[in-house]
Amino acid sequence: MSDKSKIYLFANWKMYLDYDESNILANAIAAQAKSIPTSVKMAIFPSALALYPVGQVLHDVGISLGAQNVYWQDKGGDTGEVSARMYKEAGCKYALVGHSERRHLFHESNSEVRKKLEAILDEHLTPVICVGETEKERAENKTEEAIEIQVRAAFHNIVWPKDRELIVAYEPVWAIGTGKNCDPIEAERMHQLIKKQVIALTGITPVILYGGSVKPENVAEYLKNPNINGVLVGNASTNLESWMNIVAAVR
Ligand code: 13P
Repeated sequence: MSDKSKIYLFANWKMYLDYDESNILANAIAAQAKSIPTSVKMAIFPSALALYPVGQVLHDVGISLGAQNVYWQDKGGDTGEVSARMYKEAGCKYALVGHSERRHLFHESNSEVRKKLEAILDEHLTPVICVGETEKERAENKTEEAIEIQVRAAFHNIVWPKDRELIVAYEPVWAIGTGKNCDPIEAERMHQLIKKQVIALTGITPVILYGGSVKPENVAEYLKNPNINGVLVGNASTNLESWMNIVAAVR
């Protein structure tokens, strides 16, 4: 599965773009879709409110749609939440789960991440499980331990559907939105470690994406590594020129 015949370029627009900005950017990307190499699997993760119209535009040009977060209940008195089922109905193929901004800004625990992951699988969506160590954990030589705890909590004893890809995003917390990207050699080492652990827990070879201050200038340095299957990009994916320059770097 992670044979690198496909390069994953996933764009997490976070809360950077409002409704109009999201639609304008989606239309602009769609207009340039012919320049996207066939080896690229592209998915866009817009805000929940912009997701439906953005998905309509992207669907016609073969770009997938993803949710930034889901709630694990299907329906109910859960004010302010949006379920995996609802995202599925709106046209999503993927859903992020355990993004570091969810874990750290919104205090999501490993067990909540697991419940969300299971809800995503139940709805036939493909989860993108995000893991990453903090600056403090890295400084204290606890990087491997921190990642292993997150990976184990996500995959221990899970029944993975045969028809579903297993995608993990390695996103060191200190590299997200800081401009301090992880050294690509170190990212490759972490991807090897995650791959080994996921295979030990599930028997499945994962697709692993790197995320954290990816830009047009550094993306190729990541993609040339054997265990980096693609990138999950925040800030640099919210501007047409930088996103299309990231796409161009694949060639
Ligand atoms: P940046 O690319 O802005 O550092 O964000 C990375 C990220 O969190 C993607 O999910």
